[in-house]
Amino acid sequence: MPERLLIVDDEATLCESLKRVFEREGFEVLTAPDAEAALALFEEGAFDLILSDILLPAMDGIEFLQAVKKQAPEQIVIIMTAYASIETAVGALRAGAHDYILKPVIHDEIKRLVRLALNERALRAENILLKKQIEDRFDFEHIRGRSPAIQDLIEQVKKIADSRSNVLILGETGTGKELFTRAIHFNSSRRNRPFVPINCSAIPDNLLESELFGHVKGAFTGATQTKRGLLEEADGGTVFLDEIADLGFSLQAKLLRVIDDHEIRPLGSTQSRKVDLRLVAATNKDIRQAVKDGTLREDLYYRLSVVTLHLPALRERKEDIPLLAQQFVIKYAQELTKEAREITPSAVKLLADYDWPGNVRELQNVIERAVLLSEGKSILPEHLPDGIRKGETFILKALDETLSIENYTKEFIKRYEISMNEQRLADMLGITRKALWEKRKRWGLVKK
Ligand SMILES: Nc1ncnc2c1ncn2[C@@H]1O[C@H](COP(=O)(O)OP(=O)(O)OP(=O)(O)O)[C@@H](O)[C@H]1O
Ligand SMILES: [Mg+2]
Repeated sequence: MPERLLIVDDEATLCESLKRVFEREGFEVLTAPDAEAALALFEEGAFDLILSDILLPAMDGIEFLQAVKKQAPEQIVIIMTAYASIETAVGALRAGAHDYILKPVIHDEIKRLVRLALNERALRAENILLKKQIEDRFDFEHIRGRSPAIQDLIEQVKKIADSRSNVLILGETGTGKELFTRAIHFNSSRRNRPFVPINCSAIPDNLLESELFGHVKGAFTGATQTKRGLLEEADGGTVFLDEIADLGFSLQAKLLRVIDDHEIRPLGSTQSRKVDLRLVAATNKDIRQAVKDGTLREDLYYRLSVVTLHLPALRERKEDIPLLAQQFVIKYAQELTKEAREITPSAVKLLADYDWPGNVRELQNVIERAVLLSEGKSILPEHLPDGIRKGETFILKALDETLSIENYTKEFIKRYEISMNEQRLADMLGITRKALWEKRKRWGLVKK
């Protein structure tokens, strides 16, 4: 898309000559003889840059500039002035002009000024983007958690981030596997090289192969062009192999070769290429079981699991719930422009009593919805979904489901042993602590 320029000057010949100059430079140029006409054009569509005379009929250049800036504070405006006075120049800059140029306008000079201004803007935009990316995903501040488990993990990640070791991340859905992977990449010296996430279960194997390794023209029907694979694109960076347990057997063998030889060979090619990759693999499945079942190659498992991180389920670190929940309230209140600031103690208690099968992602969703429903500063129990609010109905539900008392007791213990202390659990069941201990021992629920 060409860059759009608006030229405002009551002198028609100047407008025309500048129009020609900038069109030759590849710009799309519109002109206006006065501020009113210019404002009308401005309101219709965005301009990358506005060049405006300071002395215009009716509304003058400075007023025009102020009107523009009020609507679009980021708009770049360069003022043209015939007065070689410091005052007018300062006035224009103070009103928000990006720069000014003296009349008669020298073409080379104005071209240079316009280029400079646009380059600067592009750089600024890039910086903002980069900074946002950094804030979004790089640092550990985005990993919340006071539990020893999370603190330990952060320490481990700091230690291993900069090595080349492959990493295997295990954890239930929503526990933060991708978040931690990004932390690893962006805290390694590879941070300025690509981070390439690949979901091994999302694409059928034959397609995935050409995605990963690339292909040369004519390698298979439909391969009309040579295409670089993701593994080659990722050269020097980090590849995130999500859902690794779902990777097909033949691709596992190929991946093994990448790890051993640091080489890839595109489909249909006779030549291999060197790649420098760090692999982080993740799964929410029982990976040892997959190895036992023979669906995941043992040798691949060993190469990927040089460092293994276990992300605990949220219900195993309930102390993180209030902190995370509070964090999400602030986040979503900002995004949804709501007043919500805090969660009442009774609502926090409900959150802490719940099991969170979807882990942090589920908590995040629950809080987003609660913030949306909230009206004042506080998140109340009524803003939480039924399933969480009526946690206690477990008792009735269980009786409904004709569970034997024995099994019911067992389920009850499993469900509440984390959120309740032993005495309370025993009280709820109407038994002594010793009896509770004996039951747990019998059922293999005793903590080691
Ligand atoms: N400790 C944490 N602190 C802050 N946010 C977290 C934390 N853990 C997870 N999240 C957030 O929860 C969401 C789910 O995390 P992520 O996508 O990393 O999970 P996952 O383990 O990859 O899940 P899945 O197995 O379903 O792909 C993300 O929005 C992530 O930012
Ligand atoms: Mg994930």
